[in-house]
Amino acid sequence: MNFENFILPHIWNLKPYSSARDEFKGKEGVFLDANENPLGSGVDENWNRYPDPLQLAIKEQLASLKSCSIDQIFLGNGSDEAIDLIMRMTCQTGIHNIILCPPTYGMYEVSANINHIEQRKVSLTKEYQLDVEGILQTIDKNTRLLFLCSPNNPTGNKLNRSDIYKLIESFHSGFVLIDEAYIDFSDEPSFILELEKFPQVIVMQTLSKAYGLASLRLGMAFAHPTIISLLNKIKPPYNIGGATQEIVHKALANTTFKDKAVQLILSERSRLINNLQIIPEVLHIYPSDANFLLVHFARANELFHYLIEAKLITRNRSTVALCEDSIRITIGISEENDKLVQLINQFYKA
Ligand SMILES: Cc1ncc(COP(=O)(O)O)c(C=O)c1O
Repeated sequence: MNFENFILPHIWNLKPYSSARDEFKGKEGVFLDANENPLGSGVDENWNRYPDPLQLAIKEQLASLKSCSIDQIFLGNGSDEAIDLIMRMTCQTGIHNIILCPPTYGMYEVSANINHIEQRKVSLTKEYQLDVEGILQTIDKNTRLLFLCSPNNPTGNKLNRSDIYKLIESFHSGFVLIDEAYIDFSDEPSFILELEKFPQVIVMQTLSKAYGLASLRLGMAFAHPTIISLLNKIKPPYNIGGATQEIVHKALANTTFKDKAVQLILSERSRLINNLQIIPEVLHIYPSDANFLLVHFARANELFHYLIEAKLITRNRSTVALCEDSIRITIGISEENDKLVQLINQFYKA
């Protein structure tokens, strides 16, 4: 596969910034190379030294957890950084376009708007699946990115794998981005395992959900080593802070928390579904492969505001096309889910 055809020439040919920590990688010695403060930081731990620009300690752990190699991993300041960099390296304003399949994660559109890139929208079907024929008709020679989100936000469902295969095999002018932010809550295998077979696929995952590290901002992109080296070339040199690297390293050394959290969230998801489906005004609970439910309610808007008054915050998706009168509910701990059900019952009985 000739990646050069999909990458903007100025990025392909870019000479990247070479940081002090790129040029000398050892840990021992007297460091007078990076204009750091030699005295420390004035807090309990010292953060006065620049962090590893390529975050190799974390990538070693991830390579083993995700069954891939270190040179197939890019780490970003949240998935949003990876989304932005991928757009910047592939799309030129006024020439290239990307395909989005709404309703889906809103940052694809915002990031494309920031980068001034044409978006072509091909809505999901009523079953929240891909309109494969519609997508294939919309793609042209200047389509550089096709965004697929599975399990999808805000609908919660996974996309049919056979449709994804068909699109990967039929799209030849750019990359298929598969956002797997919620994959840990699904029984679906990750496309990371298929990167060798499909070099035009970029998989995105995040530590913000199942790993419970949203505040640290650690997003991951998995792709062919050529793509990863381009992303590393255009990212800010020290995009993942030292404190984040240290805490993530600890979290990945023991994934018991994540495994237990996923188990608990999945059992709470089933319990919440059972408790919601007996309420007559709950019109539909969409199937979920994620840590949230999209629920179609009678008088959804009013219910949403009633819940806010009671200090229970959900996400109103009622104005989103194909999600009319629906609220997205993150699965909480059992007390929180019970409170939600109690408030919904109160609202409809009032
Ligand atoms: C589908 C999807 N991708 C990515 C993200 C963002 O992930 P991060 O916290 O790593 O930026 C979200 C956050 O809600 C999401 O729903």
